[in-house]
Amino acid sequence: MNIRQLLTDKFQAAMLAAGIPEDCGPVVTQARVAPAKKASFGDYQANGAMAAAKRMGTNPRELASRIVEHLDKGEMIEKAEIAGPGFINIHLSESWLARSLAAAEQSGRLNIAPAAEPQTVVIDYSHPNLAKEMHVGHLRSTIIGDALARLLEFQGHKVIRQNHMGDWGTQFGMLLAHLSDKLENNDAEVALADLEVFYREAKVRFDEEEGFDDRAREYVVKLQGGDPECLKLWQQFIDISISHSEEIYEKLNVTLKRSDVYGESQYNDDLPVLVQELLDHGIAVEDQGAVVVFLEEMADKEGNPSPMIIRKKGGGYLYSTTDLAAIRYRANKLNADRILYVVDARQSLHLQQAFTAARKAGFLPESVALEHCAFGTMMGDDGKPFKTRTGGTVKLSALLDEAVERAEKLVAEKNPDLDTDTCAEIARKVGIGAVKYADLSKTRTNDYVFSWEAMLSFEGNTAPYLQYAYTRVRSIFRRAGIQPGELKGEIHLGTAEERALAIRLCQFGEVLDQVAKDTFPHVLCTYLYELASAYMVFYEACPVLREGVPEEQKQSRLQLCDLVARTLATGLDLLGIEVLEQM
Ligand code: ARG
Repeated sequence: MNIRQLLTDKFQAAMLAAGIPEDCGPVVTQARVAPAKKASFGDYQANGAMAAAKRMGTNPRELASRIVEHLDKGEMIEKAEIAGPGFINIHLSESWLARSLAAAEQSGRLNIAPAAEPQTVVIDYSHPNLAKEMHVGHLRSTIIGDALARLLEFQGHKVIRQNHMGDWGTQFGMLLAHLSDKLENNDAEVALADLEVFYREAKVRFDEEEGFDDRAREYVVKLQGGDPECLKLWQQFIDISISHSEEIYEKLNVTLKRSDVYGESQYNDDLPVLVQELLDHGIAVEDQGAVVVFLEEMADKEGNPSPMIIRKKGGGYLYSTTDLAAIRYRANKLNADRILYVVDARQSLHLQQAFTAARKAGFLPESVALEHCAFGTMMGDDGKPFKTRTGGTVKLSALLDEAVERAEKLVAEKNPDLDTDTCAEIARKVGIGAVKYADLSKTRTNDYVFSWEAMLSFEGNTAPYLQYAYTRVRSIFRRAGIQPGELKGEIHLGTAEERALAIRLCQFGEVLDQVAKDTFPHVLCTYLYELASAYMVFYEACPVLREGVPEEQKQSRLQLCDLVARTLATGLDLLGIEVLEQM
């Protein structure tokens, strides 16, 4: 259910019936329905009358009242009132809200219908570079991408996860040269046990050791030439690196599997073909020995087209060539309707070029959407990009271990009687949940400051707060000795607090629709936080188990409690965060 959409449909019909001409412009189709900013404005507001009146040259208040006259209120709308210059304040009917909640309580999916037109959505996320150190930017992509994957899947879309790992490129020369030396007295597992250390060693040799750089370059040539020994070495490196990533995914409760890895190397064979095709079709041209696509579509202020090199002077292919091949593969082989790139904002020019060139080359049907879901940089509390105290790259697995350790201390302090195993399990869910939620709850396009204190707080918009709210709701059922499945009777919304909570609960569906469309997971976080807050207010004002509460009211309120618990659990699960029964 999507209240906003239901109201929009009703208002659009009313606006047409009120005589607003259909060709009056897009404003007519925009009834501009949104949740009211203040309770005194009703539950929702429709603000389309004013813009339409302006276009038509009529009085906006008069037009608003004509719209209201033609409004089919049905069972949903209690009343619609005109305010100010032509706002329409909408009050939803209590019985309609109660019935909607009853339907949600009966339904296994909280009354959220699967998408009417399911799409195939490819999501490109996580994509670490196996030839470089994995950094916190990959953490952001992994967390945000996984939340979007879960949410779109819940909505009934076919989600294809693509882990576009950086598993190819000139850096592998240095790594393979180092690996082959190491293998003389070690097995590959041992040599690659700590990838960070391995990278650093290889880099030091490359920078300092006489002759090592030449060997590294030889390895690149051999690798690109398909030398079997070299490929075998490379494959070993890739397999072990992927296992390291898998450990992180496992710790992070991220749904990526080995089978979702479709790295850059997969496109190797297509690169020469693709470049030749673009040359043949005149989309690319040779320029000073290189092959370049000049994009007039992205010209600068002086009118110079934006150049995108797809083959280097020496014949090498680039990151951008691979991305063109990937677009073509995703649109035509994977049949994507929509392709999401959960990639650092600093790559926006690169992706814009790739999208523009792919369209220009006709690599994909017009209807396929290409979207860059950009995210900002994770900062330390010194306001600089997040680093270790000594200025190094933060190892992701160490970061996650620290999160769990810190959570363990907090949980043990709060609850000293817990046995160690229970405490460890709670700490795992709370610590990992905190890291993920801290990222997801910020507007992804902004930079954000990584702060242990803020993310592990039990107050405010944090994972621990929401997880705790969930356990509080669930504890009511334990105290009452009732299972949610045993609840019966109608839902009543007699008090303002029950009504406010009911509206929040009914908004879950429209929030999911919005996140699916705009790909901003923080909107779901804000919603869950507001839902938990509305629940706290309700719980203060409306006794549930207290002596003297009539049975019918108790049953009704317990149903609200159950809906809150289920909505919180479902919402957090879509964010990839686990709930607990006690903490
Ligand atoms: N591996 C790249 C990096 O770490 C990100 C890949 C993003 N996806 C893509 N299709 N370009 O910078």
